[in-house]
Amino acid sequence: MRIKSLVIIIVLVLLTSGCSPNSSRGFSLPQGNPQLGAENFEKYRCTDCHTVAGITVNEDHTYLLVRPVPLGGSSGRITTYGELVTSIINPSHKITRRQPISMTTENGESRMRNINDILTVTELVDLVAFLQPKYKVEPYRTSEYRLYELRTTE
Ligand code: HEC
Repeated sequence: MRIKSLVIIIVLVLLTSGCSPNSSRGFSLPQGNPQLGAENFEKYRCTDCHTVAGITVNEDHTYLLVRPVPLGGSSGRITTYGELVTSIINPSHKITRRQPISMTTENGESRMRNINDILTVTELVDLVAFLQPKYKVEPYRTSEYRLYELRTTE
């Protein structure tokens, strides 16, 4: 029994220790502005396919999806800050197999509009600042840097 728990712990450590070169360990965006994030959400018409607390749409609003995807809450897909950022800039990264086929293209890619070439990094940071508090994500650790000192010229 104890060996079993030990094996589970080792597997968990290996899975979370970031051995993969694609690991999000150490990844953190600067502080964003949630108010501007809400504005970007409308500007980039995320409202075409999503509902989210804090954004209201007109009564005659038409969604591109038959069932718009609600954002926020405790999504099984988004449990960390990194996953939230990934789902915006690389939506095909993690598509649940249970997703109805109409949600993906024939080759299994996300139908989510790709705006990577027009979204600025600041806009992304603000979007994440707006969306993150709506998800129950694990708190993320900021990178720990040594204290750096600027060389002063006398
Ligand atoms: C054309 C439709 C469409 C548009 C426009 C769109 N999305 Fe999505 N989005 C989807 C679909 C479909 C999913 C769920 C499955 C997937 O990833 O393909 C999704 C998933 C997500 C998720 C993960 C949801 C979860 O809780 O698992 C986030 C976050 C998200 N979108 C953010 C955005 C943001 C921010 C914008 C605007 C910049 C946007 N989306 C625009 C279709 C869209």
